[in-house]
Amino acid sequence: MEDTRKRLIELLYNQTGDYISGQELSKQLNISRSAIWKHMNELKKAGYQIEAITNRGYRIVSVPHEMSEASLRWGLDTTWYGKEINYLPSVTSTQYHAHDLAREGCDHGTVVIAGEQTAGKGRLKRYWDSPAGLGLWFSVVLRPTELTPKAATQLTLVAAVAYAKALKKWSIPVKIKWPNDLYIGDQKLAGILTEMQAEQDEIDYIVLGTGINVNHTTDDFHPSVQHTATSLKQFLNKTVDLNALFRDMASNFETEYDHFLNNGFQSIKEDWEQLGYKIGEWLTIRTNTEWSGKLISLNDDGALIVEDVLGEQHILYSAEILWRS
Ligand code: BTN
Repeated sequence: MEDTRKRLIELLYNQTGDYISGQELSKQLNISRSAIWKHMNELKKAGYQIEAITNRGYRIVSVPHEMSEASLRWGLDTTWYGKEINYLPSVTSTQYHAHDLAREGCDHGTVVIAGEQTAGKGRLKRYWDSPAGLGLWFSVVLRPTELTPKAATQLTLVAAVAYAKALKKWSIPVKIKWPNDLYIGDQKLAGILTEMQAEQDEIDYIVLGTGINVNHTTDDFHPSVQHTATSLKQFLNKTVDLNALFRDMASNFETEYDHFLNNGFQSIKEDWEQLGYKIGEWLTIRTNTEWSGKLISLNDDGALIVEDVLGEQHILYSAEILWRS
């Protein structure tokens, strides 16, 4: 079903404003004309404006920018990620809501996504500004029963790699600032917050939250972060369809997550090294003292390996890295 819809949208899109006949669609998709008609109605419900003209066919007039469960799900090509999507126009934090669902026993891959968050959470108890309609604010419940709690850190890195790779396809040169920020140039585009419920050596569930600044202009950011934060719109100079962006993030996350579970952390680590912000550069590190360190890579715990001027390697878990030095 999902595949047919995705293909249908692709076929409509490929016409670039021109019409495609019902007969052609039915041939390409190998389904009846009445099935096409039903799919068209579903598309309309999802907010697509479709024009149908007798003897000419169909064409997309506009795609929905409004987020809804249907428009988010439309064309989503995942197996388990987002099988259940909970869209909330406004919520305190998608993290809280996802924790509630997880405690109630929701499935692995359940997504909570919001139009706005009134109490968005960043790392280290910081506030995460999540204004209505300007970004992707979503959390996914993961139940990686085969992993130990230490792998939660790795999952944050898996997510960062997945998103960075997805954004590369949009020609956005993103870097991953350790441990969990996505950067364009020297400005923050997105952040990831991983929270875990575990008992001893068993993960009960993980809630992995992602915030991506998408359609902000400079003025949409709080003055205190206008120089340090950025959005996709600022980089691309155009408004981005939140639904399409979500689908790409979801799809890439599922691919990288499955790859990680099947093949281990090594390949994620290799990708991360290619994508790491300021990898190979000398920065000031503040531990007990201040010293110069070159960012080398990650170890298997997802901690940062930094080399000092004598060539000695240090493992930093919660290092104070002065990124701007
Ligand atoms: C950070 O960089 O500090 C992490 C930010 C994570 C923000 C996302 S938005 C969706 C989810 N819900 C929240 O309240 N926080 C995360």
